[in-house]
Amino acid sequence: MAACRALLLVAGEAHNGAMQAVVYDRYGPPEVQHLEDVERPVPAPDQLLVRIHATTVTRTDCGWLRARPFFVRAFIGLFRPKRRILGMEYAGEVAEVGAAVTQFAVGDLVFGVTGFGAHAEYVCVLERGAVAHKPAGVTFEEASAVCDGACAATSCLRSVDIGPGRRLLIYGATGSIGSAAVQLARAAGADVTAVANTKNLELVRSLGADRVIDWTQEDFTRNGETYDVIFDAVGKLTFTRCRGSLPPGGTFISTDGVRNILWWAWTWRVGDKRARMGIAAYRKADVLQLKDLIDSGRYRAVIDRTYPLEEVVEATRYVETEQKTGNVVLTVGALELRRLEPPLAAALMRDRETAGQLLGATLPPSWPQPDFLDILPLLAAAEGEAAKFGAWAMVERVSNTVVEEIGFLGPPVDGVVEMGFGFRRTGTADGQISWSFPADR
Ligand SMILES: NC(=O)c1ccc[n+]([C@@H]2O[C@H](COP(=O)([O-])OP(=O)(O)OC[C@H]3O[C@@H](n4cnc5c(N)ncnc54)[C@H](OP(=O)(O)O)[C@@H]3O)[C@@H](O)[C@H]2O)c1
Repeated sequence: MAACRALLLVAGEAHNGAMQAVVYDRYGPPEVQHLEDVERPVPAPDQLLVRIHATTVTRTDCGWLRARPFFVRAFIGLFRPKRRILGMEYAGEVAEVGAAVTQFAVGDLVFGVTGFGAHAEYVCVLERGAVAHKPAGVTFEEASAVCDGACAATSCLRSVDIGPGRRLLIYGATGSIGSAAVQLARAAGADVTAVANTKNLELVRSLGADRVIDWTQEDFTRNGETYDVIFDAVGKLTFTRCRGSLPPGGTFISTDGVRNILWWAWTWRVGDKRARMGIAAYRKADVLQLKDLIDSGRYRAVIDRTYPLEEVVEATRYVETEQKTGNVVLTVGALELRRLEPPLAAALMRDRETAGQLLGATLPPSWPQPDFLDILPLLAAAEGEAAKFGAWAMVERVSNTVVEEIGFLGPPVDGVVEMGFGFRRTGTADGQISWSFPADR
């Protein structure tokens, strides 16, 4: 019964506009983050409210957390964070739409990337921002782990030709940006050489790399080969070290490192080899292109570890090691109580045939269960509290499978909440629905 009371509280909060989020009020190590009940955001006319099922911890989140490098404080708050909730990537379901939204509707499954706010049960995002309908064949976890790396890789490589015949070397090819770059360059037709650690060579081959180099065994800058583009996806190299591996007209692009910014400025006008600093931009067009690539099987998420949102500190510690392979996912709100629509709720309690039609299933002859009929008078008596009681679905999501335990929640009698579960509906992403009734279990 204690569990029932807890669930009741969850339901009450959901309707009062609260949500759980990971917040931080000062810059520092992963431990400064904690879970808190905060106000659920309300969408502006051009925004969607997304109920998040999965998000990620990115290297950018880690930078915002510690305010590193120092100058980022100019954007995120000089002394303390202006935005309390981190989290960029998300996949989930549209819970509300603003009045001016035209391309999305409540219930649509979406994925995308935003600046802040995704380490929470809900986030508001602009309809014109980097959000799109979720590719059908992937889980929420997979869909949450693609946009940051892919948009960053796309922005970094936008200014160079990576089409057929071009030779591209990607250093740090198994990081979030690197694993995206390998797949995007391959899809564009480039000849891709991926540099990775011994343990990750098979992975980068499976992502489409034409050639692999184990950086623990071989220094590519000494093998005599040249590459039209050298993309340092983990910011570990310098232009000076790579210059000899670029042909005239070749370009070195880095994702990090102040020295590379200086070389960027210097080679702008001087010499026949260029250094560039990639700056991530998050555009809707890039997310739509990514969706097409995923739908056509030419792009996939690389996920290293998955944690529940509650373990964000642990997840962040791992990302800070700078050794993750691909992405680190957080699952959000795996358990939810959802009130059933009044006609279905009423039919479930009283009328087997109508309920069966509404649900698209054949309910057993014993329906409704006598236990639930006993609750009806209590429901009728619970006037003030009526909003909380009635028929509910306890919805549990595990990857792409959604299990709904449909039952009834009665008002407390002598401080005890009655909750009876009627039956279980299991739905998978490909639209398969199966039922199980009490007699089957
Ligand atoms: N410029 C921008 O706008 C922008 C935006 C976002 C992020 N960033 C920066 O981009 C960088 C990469 O981000 P990310 O999320 O892709 O990183 P990540 O996923 O944390 O990268 C981890 C990978 O780096 C590789 N690695 C670690 N140390 C290495 C070393 N010494 N030599 C070679 N490879 C090494 C590892 O691969 P192996 O085990 O296979 O070696 C590991 O798989 C970070 O510095 C981040 O701050 C820049």
